[in-house]
Amino acid sequence: MKKVALASILVSLGLLGACSQGNSDNSPDKSMKGMKHSSMNMEGMDHSSMNMEGMGDSKMDMSHESMTELKSSLGENELKFPQLLKPEQKNNNSISYTIRAQQGTSEIFKGYKTDTYGYNGDFLGPVIRLEKGMKVKVKLVNDLDEDTTFHWHGLEVPGNEDGGPHKVLKPGESEVIHFTVKQDAATLWFHPHPMHETGKQVFKGLAGLLYIDDKNSQSLNIPKTYGVDDLPIILQDKTFTDNKQLDYDKVMNEDGTTGDTLLINGVVNPKLTVDRKKVRLRILNGSNMRTYTLHFDNDMSFQQIASDGGLLNKPNMTKSVEIAPAERVELIVDLTKVKGNKVSLVNEVNKTILPIHLNGRLNGSKKGQAVKKLNSIKITNEVKNKKVTKSIKLAGMDKEVSINNKKFDPKRIDYTQKQNETEIWEIENVKDPMGGMNHPFHIHGTQFQVISIDGKEPPANLAGLKDTISLKPGQKAKIAVKFTQKGIYMFHCHILEHEDNGMMGQIKVI
Ligand code: C2O
Ligand code: CU
Ligand code: CU
Repeated sequence: MKKVALASILVSLGLLGACSQGNSDNSPDKSMKGMKHSSMNMEGMDHSSMNMEGMGDSKMDMSHESMTELKSSLGENELKFPQLLKPEQKNNNSISYTIRAQQGTSEIFKGYKTDTYGYNGDFLGPVIRLEKGMKVKVKLVNDLDEDTTFHWHGLEVPGNEDGGPHKVLKPGESEVIHFTVKQDAATLWFHPHPMHETGKQVFKGLAGLLYIDDKNSQSLNIPKTYGVDDLPIILQDKTFTDNKQLDYDKVMNEDGTTGDTLLINGVVNPKLTVDRKKVRLRILNGSNMRTYTLHFDNDMSFQQIASDGGLLNKPNMTKSVEIAPAERVELIVDLTKVKGNKVSLVNEVNKTILPIHLNGRLNGSKKGQAVKKLNSIKITNEVKNKKVTKSIKLAGMDKEVSINNKKFDPKRIDYTQKQNETEIWEIENVKDPMGGMNHPFHIHGTQFQVISIDGKEPPANLAGLKDTISLKPGQKAKIAVKFTQKGIYMFHCHILEHEDNGMMGQIKVI
């Protein structure tokens, strides 16, 4: 067990001991019993690498069984990149695709056939690449044996095309949707959204990337050759059974299913071999609940150039980046700065996420100017000073999760908002007297701007467009939300099991 995790558990035990009123026996066993994990303060605890299941057990086994600590990548398998999806038709300004949700088997581990789900393939999905201004037609086909939906996470499309829980396709059904790409360049994604089944279907492999390009992104001097120096990185932690299956019912956790095995783009024990130059990593956290805080093992700096909804105004130089479930970041990593032939991307407890092997000799020559200006997103004082008109309170853990003390009801519209009108939403992760946990809050059909977090201006990496914001217990954020399209949209916690447990509401844009 990692030192950090152990230390924080001891701290928590102390905390719990103090909380267990009327219980003279403060042994960890007793104080944990009956309190379950909902009474634990997970803040500061390395909860992202822990499986809380079993912590409520009377046995209080603090051994490996009660933790889902991520294992380091052994770097055995070269990273693969998803195919770019070929359009069925493409002319001037219109493009059409077919996306099929299907079952398959994948050889994730040598010699084992794992039952998986995928889009247009056995596992995960292809990358759909669109340009701003394009008219898009997508035929959606459900070839699964169960209901599913096709949700475009981060895309500004009419509510009717958004693929929320109302838009179920039954096994064998298909549907054609149409939309026009109206937003700027961004790294978005798509995944299923059926009621109570999202966690399972994503866990089994349904997730794909959707890129939007625009004139600005195409003209910038940044790496942009797909699969060469512009690399998709889909992070997902999974637990496999002994015979290497993804048995969701067996491993699911009401507070978010975690795993000990990291897959990147579906590859276990990945490594990346790449030329010694600048590379762009487009990272999607496609995990059910785990948050990753990434840095390099040589502690080098890199640039974050984009967040969920597209390019930041200027690169943010940093040494680490936190990515909550559903969030995306784009990084530019200058590999010419690496001294040896290898550098590794590691997480908050220094587990190897991705070892990177460098081709080519060290040469100190620095070619090309670093890009200083990427985008021109603005936020006016008028918007900043607007009053809060929607307050969202996120609360609870386990099955007791809620938004404004309510659980999702498909027949209830929680809010309305006018199309193209900016409103200020205040999102609060209500501090439980006994703690709570992080909730990554997501809104469909919009890219919002963070005005403040706990009254302070957002850090540079949160100053761009966002569709998901992760809040710690007690944190409060003000965000400026504008919907450019009409329809009904979901807002919810993106811990998929919280969403499946009803931590979701809906807004009607009129
Ligand atoms: Cu990523 Cu409601 O979705
Ligand atoms: Cu979404
Ligand atoms: Cu949550």
